[in-house]
Amino acid sequence: MAIAVVLATVGFGGRRAVWESRRTWGEEDEVRNSVESRSVVINHGIPTGTIHRMKTAAAEFFKLPAQEKKKYPYDPNVLEGYGTPYPLSENESVDWSSALFLRLSPIQQRKLELWPTTPPELKDTVEAYSAEVAKVNKKLLGCLSLIMGMERNALFELHEEMSMLLRVTYYPTCCMPDQVLGLGPHSDASSITLLAQDDDVTGLQVLHDGGWVPVKPIPNALVVNIGDVMEIWSNGRYKSIDHRVVTTVEKARTSYASFVAPHKDVVMEPLEQMLDAQHRHGMYHKVKYENYLKYVLHRKLEGKAHMAKYTI
Ligand code: OGA
Ligand code: NI
Repeated sequence: MAIAVVLATVGFGGRRAVWESRRTWGEEDEVRNSVESRSVVINHGIPTGTIHRMKTAAAEFFKLPAQEKKKYPYDPNVLEGYGTPYPLSENESVDWSSALFLRLSPIQQRKLELWPTTPPELKDTVEAYSAEVAKVNKKLLGCLSLIMGMERNALFELHEEMSMLLRVTYYPTCCMPDQVLGLGPHSDASSITLLAQDDDVTGLQVLHDGGWVPVKPIPNALVVNIGDVMEIWSNGRYKSIDHRVVTTVEKARTSYASFVAPHKDVVMEPLEQMLDAQHRHGMYHKVKYENYLKYVLHRKLEGKAHMAKYTI
């Protein structure tokens, strides 16, 4: 069976971007429009075994006793480690999840003391997954660059030093799913996010026309989210997607989000290529990625409210 990358989901703000990028992916016969999810599905080429091994290793880690997992406490300065790193949401309820953050790249910036040594294969399996997901990222950014009227490597180079962070999130079962969220509404502080998820539990929802639409898992697929960085670079043509995670009574769920981001010193602003007769001026203020990230990480999760600061 073809492994698929879901390049756009229902109501996904950058659906057009990703839909259009299908033309430049170069494997037309792997492209199909999934009726059920109204998604574009493309072969991403990550071996199923690589995804499977990472999921198994992560499951082993989350099964460990709390005191074992706490040996790798989340460090907000390096954005790595285990914990519940987001600030409390509006009603001060804690999100019903815990997460393990690991830096995929740049490799030399990894804080390996925050990488769990149990199970022993975790490091190598994450490493293998990281190499694969980096390839998909490069290819996808290439496609997006082309549809934005730039050279294939333009977006890749705009990141200057590509940063990739993996967030493995475990959402336990919850007996009050209508009152407790797994993760509050937000858009990602990334250029794009590549998300692998469990095949058999639906938890992720995207905001579409004022309502929350579930993103049903497609086995071995990657969901691609457009993040705030792409929204700014594209001058609002490709909007970041407001999404959240709900809890379920029946089954725990795990997701694996790889956040792609530029170097912290990169100054983000609408790209010249995105200015046209209709949008002659940039619709976003210039902002250094580091400053934007600090602002976002200290806020409660309130959908896309944080973007007001950067919108003209
Ligand atoms: C995130 C996120 C979605 C999920 O980590 O930013 O949106 O399905 N995760 O867990
Ligand atoms: Ni997210």
